[in-house]
Amino acid sequence: MKIFLDSANIEEIREINDLGIIDGITTNPSLIAKNKYDFRSTIADICSLINADVSVEVIANDFKTMIIQANSLLEIADNVVIKLPITWDGLKACKQISKEGRKVNMTLCFSPNQALLAAKAGATYISPFIGRLDDIGQNGIELIRDIRQIYDNYDGLDTKILAASIRSPNHVYLSALYGADIATVSAKIIKQLLDHPLTSSGLEIFNKDWSESGLNI
Ligand code: E4P
Repeated sequence: MKIFLDSANIEEIREINDLGIIDGITTNPSLIAKNKYDFRSTIADICSLINADVSVEVIANDFKTMIIQANSLLEIADNVVIKLPITWDGLKACKQISKEGRKVNMTLCFSPNQALLAAKAGATYISPFIGRLDDIGQNGIELIRDIRQIYDNYDGLDTKILAASIRSPNHVYLSALYGADIATVSAKIIKQLLDHPLTSSGLEIFNKDWSESGLNI
């Protein structure tokens, strides 16, 4: 499974990217707004730092404005992927942008049927939001499992499943187990993926035994 970093913070992106463990970036209007830097230059900086797909969302509800904004965002860099809400107008915009050969990430997906339509409209990525479903008492991971099953049932549904709204290391593990192609994860959770109490206590024991032995490397 690929790992994307869910962030619009350039310092954070630089730090994690240096490790060579991320395969792309996702942003959303809330993440961009949190950083308060100039929008276009932030996206341009991220795109030049990352040699991979960078999802950038339009802020429009109607087809015409979506296309105007998408065309403007696509001018920023070749690796911009247009993120569109999975609505009727979003689907129309997805069809058009995909037909023109640019990548689309359909976002705010909460049902298998939305994912089916996104794939039919030529989306490169579908973003099911696991955490937000869990927040309302549903099981977000079941959505990943169901979309995987539906896409695998038929030829031609080649859209990649991009597990989003990930709130814990367990979400990452279960996304991989149930066949998501990608998980987009915050820097905080990427760091948590490494944590294990037995790794920490094991390291302490090795250090203690070594320092008591008087040996040198
Ligand atoms: C990524 O594409 C999504 O915008 C993001 O994962 C949403 O996460 P949230 O539900 O924690 O805001």
